[in-house]
Amino acid sequence: MRETMGDLRRTNMCGNLRTSDVDKEVVLMGWVQRERNLGSLIFVDLRDTTGICQIVCDSTVSQEIFKKAEKIRGEYVIAVKGKVRKRQSINKDIPTGEVEVLAEELKILNKSETPPIYIKDDDNVSETMRLKYRYLDLRKPSMQNNLKMRHKTAKLVRDFLDENHFVEIETPMLTKPTPEGARDYLVPSRVNPGHFYALPQSPQLMKQLLMVSGMDRYYQIVKCFRDEDLRANRQPEFTQIDIEMSFVDVDDVIEINERLLYRLFKELKGVEIELPIQRMTYKEAMERFGVDKPDLRFGFELVDISDVVENSEFKVFSGTIKNKGSVRGINVKGYGGNFTRKDISKLESYVKDFGAKGLAWIKITEEGISSPIAKFLSEEELNNILNRMDGGKGDLLLFVADNLNVVFDSLGNLRNEVARRLNIIDKNEMKLVWITEFPLFEYDEEEERYVAKHHPFTHPMEEDIHLLQTEPEKVRAKAYDIVINGDEMGGGSIRISDTELQKSMFAALGLSEEEASNKFGFLLEAFKYGTPPHGGIAYGFDRLIMLLADNANIRDVIAFPKTQSATCLLTGAPSEISKDQLKEVHIGLDL
Ligand code: AMO
Ligand code: AMP
Repeated sequence: MRETMGDLRRTNMCGNLRTSDVDKEVVLMGWVQRERNLGSLIFVDLRDTTGICQIVCDSTVSQEIFKKAEKIRGEYVIAVKGKVRKRQSINKDIPTGEVEVLAEELKILNKSETPPIYIKDDDNVSETMRLKYRYLDLRKPSMQNNLKMRHKTAKLVRDFLDENHFVEIETPMLTKPTPEGARDYLVPSRVNPGHFYALPQSPQLMKQLLMVSGMDRYYQIVKCFRDEDLRANRQPEFTQIDIEMSFVDVDDVIEINERLLYRLFKELKGVEIELPIQRMTYKEAMERFGVDKPDLRFGFELVDISDVVENSEFKVFSGTIKNKGSVRGINVKGYGGNFTRKDISKLESYVKDFGAKGLAWIKITEEGISSPIAKFLSEEELNNILNRMDGGKGDLLLFVADNLNVVFDSLGNLRNEVARRLNIIDKNEMKLVWITEFPLFEYDEEEERYVAKHHPFTHPMEEDIHLLQTEPEKVRAKAYDIVINGDEMGGGSIRISDTELQKSMFAALGLSEEEASNKFGFLLEAFKYGTPPHGGIAYGFDRLIMLLADNANIRDVIAFPKTQSATCLLTGAPSEISKDQLKEVHIGLDL
């Protein structure tokens, strides 16, 4: 028999009932978390988005209700009317644990087949199943909390930016390729055969145009699309908090963003971050941590021992220096005892993923030095290395000899890996740092030319502009990233607003005027008509939620995410398209 809500109207939410509600008549509606039949009593845990409340169906009160309750199974949708009363056995684990509702009316509004996954936070079901049945997965309290955190964060961001006179403006999704450097997602145009839109990798160009328009302060919480290799904290479509401001320099952008971050952490995590947030140049970050997004919650900083070993008998070291490479190490201070030879060989294969040819090590134990390279080193050399590395009893020293890029990449990542393995990172600690003075260019080995490290509209630092044509690799940018606990949360820059400077930037990038005009002509044209100095930033909104809601997996903070191979297991996207549809957009397949 089909039952409807009829006259019943929900009066309360399950998770909110307390002893102050005792004796009230309430109507609850929700899903059956579980039911227990004790012979003459049936207990039902009823769940809605606010939590769980216990319902009692008592055969001595109503045979009819009891009979109906016997039919109830997990995930049935029911409506219950009844009186709140004190519970005999209190459940301290849930906020409603002191009360229950004695059913006086019960309606089964919808049945459920046995769900393929349990609606329970600590189930061990595979992520494949969770993504396929996402709508069930999203019934879990932890997942609902993640989405609520997303909502709260977005609202706070909007409130803050509104108070500070930012205007939220939408920009097109069907647009031209944007300069963020990943591959584009393309959309064929039916009415313009052979022509394609690109989905925006970011609203970068549009927000700069809005500055030319005189909007002064723009923001948008916006989807961005990048067809790139996916990693743990990357999605092909992700969300940015995108911000742009006029008449500003680096400090102005940083200042307002610090206040925004302060507000978010205070209100969403109850953490008061220290202002101003510390700043570190890109150069310092690389020298000390090997990466441009250092995790400052632990030590093990990189140390250069190149000068100490340049004449060593150990050719792995001295040979590297001769070839203009570098030898650097980290001291896993005090944790030497935690690493067996086997562990160290695992670390060695870990660094090989980053291009290192090996991992030399010295362990300082109670019994003395243990190291496969000690026999190649003179006593003086060994002592000098220990001194430079501040090596003492209980320490493990790890070294990589290679070109500087490989040394930084492998040791920088090894440093994080070692801390992870040791499990010494305090998850509640928040370490924020601005990384500044990024190089304007980086050398692209494949294309054999300089490419913009950020994007081609990034303003060089004034004192380096004269190096643009002669020593581009030395030019630093007015660019900044906000890094939190080793993750890049956001990045931005001051933009070039001067046509001549923009031209020399394109020249340094090896972009002819024609190419530049094909790609960005509309922006360059706009810049001719009075462009204010401007700059901005964009945050990875999903990454921010990962941090605020304590999630290690970006997919857990997105309602309907993609897998690592950019598919949607729920809808089956991407999927094949019928011949007719392809024909309409003038596309023939050649697979
Ligand atoms: P950028 O390319 O650094 O800058 O992107 C800004 C921030 O977006 C996040 N992010 C991602 N998050 C999830 N999945 C991805 N695939 C992904 N790619 C980037 C990162 C990153 O810090 N237009 C410029 C901003 C500006 O200059 O104002 C831009 O897009 O957290
Ligand atoms: P080998 O001389 O190749 O037997 O290496 C001796 C030790 O040096 C081993 O522990 C290697 O892992 C290490 N090693 C080899 N190449 C490098 C390198 N480029 N950087 C650091 N350690 C290395």
